[in-house]
Amino acid sequence: MSDLSHIRSLLNARRPGHALPQALYTGADAFDFDLKAIFWRDWIMVGFDIEVATPGATLSLDVGTSPVVIVRGRDGALRAFHNSCRHRGAMVCAPGRRQSARLVCPYHQWTYDLDGRLITARRMQDDFDPKDHALRPVHVRSVAGCLYVCLADEPPAFEAFAEGLAPLLAVHDLKNAKLAHEAVFVEKANWKLVMENARECYHCAAKHPHLALTFPTDVKAHFAADEAGRVDRFNARMERAGLPIGPTMGEWWQAIRFPLNDGVISMTMDGKHAVSRLMVEAEGGDVGSLRWATEPNAFCHALGDHVFMFSAQPSGPMETVVTAKWLVHKDAVEGVDYHVESLVALWLTTNQQDIELVENNQCGVRSLGYTPGPYCEDAESLVMRFTDWYCQAAGRFIDGQGEA
Ligand code: FES
Ligand SMILES: [Fe+2]
Repeated sequence: MSDLSHIRSLLNARRPGHALPQALYTGADAFDFDLKAIFWRDWIMVGFDIEVATPGATLSLDVGTSPVVIVRGRDGALRAFHNSCRHRGAMVCAPGRRQSARLVCPYHQWTYDLDGRLITARRMQDDFDPKDHALRPVHVRSVAGCLYVCLADEPPAFEAFAEGLAPLLAVHDLKNAKLAHEAVFVEKANWKLVMENARECYHCAAKHPHLALTFPTDVKAHFAADEAGRVDRFNARMERAGLPIGPTMGEWWQAIRFPLNDGVISMTMDGKHAVSRLMVEAEGGDVGSLRWATEPNAFCHALGDHVFMFSAQPSGPMETVVTAKWLVHKDAVEGVDYHVESLVALWLTTNQQDIELVENNQCGVRSLGYTPGPYCEDAESLVMRFTDWYCQAAGRFIDGQGEA
């Protein structure tokens, strides 16, 4: 059976409303398939404009297993490229954030301009034409200060997402933010288990006692109005302050501003702002959380005082790299307006708890006795949305390949 036929048979075997068949969480062919069908076709959140703010700034990272670099040009435009030298393929830009006038391959010093053109290749023969060896471009888009790349030739439509998110996020003014902290976790679990875990709070009350102090852990998707009228009161307050709340959603994205628990104004250990220099002045920065999630791999919370990003990338059949970033106002001074430890403590603790959960989940999913069980429709509706989206995207990809 070809890999595609095998994946098709697994998709066919899947019971709606249930966890996925085992081999989709464990198989080497499922990992390869997910890179091709999902991570190299969809819009992938990679970070924020402010990480590549000035001409010559680069942000280099792997999308799945494929290195990509995002570059701010001298003309101010954002561009992205496959981070693979057109000579013998070395990675041109080192991972992470750098600043350079040109992109110089470390191997034989082929040198590219910030727009990807090859401008120097020492000692090459007379018939060598640099014009034929520019870095290969990748689609990149910015929405309200957030960066997304797409490695497909023909990316999915982006406009509806951008138009939905931009007005919600505008008040957080991400163009005037700075990166306060970044953390990277290597998790021994398939990326879909990592994302399923990230899309539900069924486990939160028991496993995230700190998160549960600030985050309403028992609500359904989209934080529907509760009987005490808490959400209605919050929504009315946001309307008076002129802050849109959404929700807005499409096939692969959703965003909503929702109230935190009573008496709580930020997602921190004590529920207070961790940063005194606020990102949102309206309502004294007491604006709940704007949560936006994009399939396949990310969610963010924008609070009055900071922004948190969670982004997962598959690095092996049962290994995932999670990158977490915290933004604060660019004028917030570390040690004066905030302390990194208190800013990051809640999500660092929560992520460490989640790593244990997903690695344990992966261990059990490997069992001979694993049988996909039913999701809780009330508490795991966003997990169902995620796995439904995954199965549809996977099926569409196979249909487009004309086999299986
Ligand atoms: S591989 Fe880049 S210059 Fe040789
Ligand atoms: Fe969790």
